[in-house]
Amino acid sequence: MARISPLLNQVETLISADQLNQRIIEMGVEINAYYREQPLLILGVLKGSFIFMADLVRKLSPNYEVDFIRSKSYVDKVSTGVPVIKTLHDHNFEGFHVLLVDEIIDTGHTFEKLISFCKERNPLSIKTVSLLNKPSKREVDINANWIGFNIDDHFVVGYGLDYNEKLRNLPYIGILNPET
Ligand code: IMP
Ligand code: MG
Repeated sequence: MARISPLLNQVETLISADQLNQRIIEMGVEINAYYREQPLLILGVLKGSFIFMADLVRKLSPNYEVDFIRSKSYVDKVSTGVPVIKTLHDHNFEGFHVLLVDEIIDTGHTFEKLISFCKERNPLSIKTVSLLNKPSKREVDINANWIGFNIDDHFVVGYGLDYNEKLRNLPYIGILNPET
């Protein structure tokens, strides 16, 4: 018999699977209309973006290319403020528009660092999409070009977002420990 994780008892639903699906359909329409089949590389930021990325790219033109990049900045429920970027293979982006896909923009350090990383590789343009946005936590003057949901300052899990690597595979977004 499957054991229910005690962590799950501390999660309160914030955005349901249906709400996520509905919003991602809308975002797909907007992003397709913006790029209009131009050469586009959709660059997912691992690990957190993997579920959003999988759902979003299936709403986008099959002519677009898909790749991943790695960044890590959170330990427990706290941002270290210093995202560490790792590429899976280093190529340049000449001739491509680049769309960075992350699941949440919080302090903004990750997108800032990734944008300068991409700029050095000469893409036609760089834009960003984030499923969630926590505007109250921003430390650098940066915003995503497309945002799914603005949320208050909660620590959220599920749909790719983790607490110490757990809870990423919940099919919805929840608040961890809403009472604290
Ligand atoms: P930023 O560099 O502070 O904007 O943070 C971006 C990264 O921190 C996100 O891509 C997430 O991986 C992680 N992060 C930020 N807020 C949360 C949260 O509430 N839950 C889980 N991970 C988070
Ligand atoms: Mg992330």
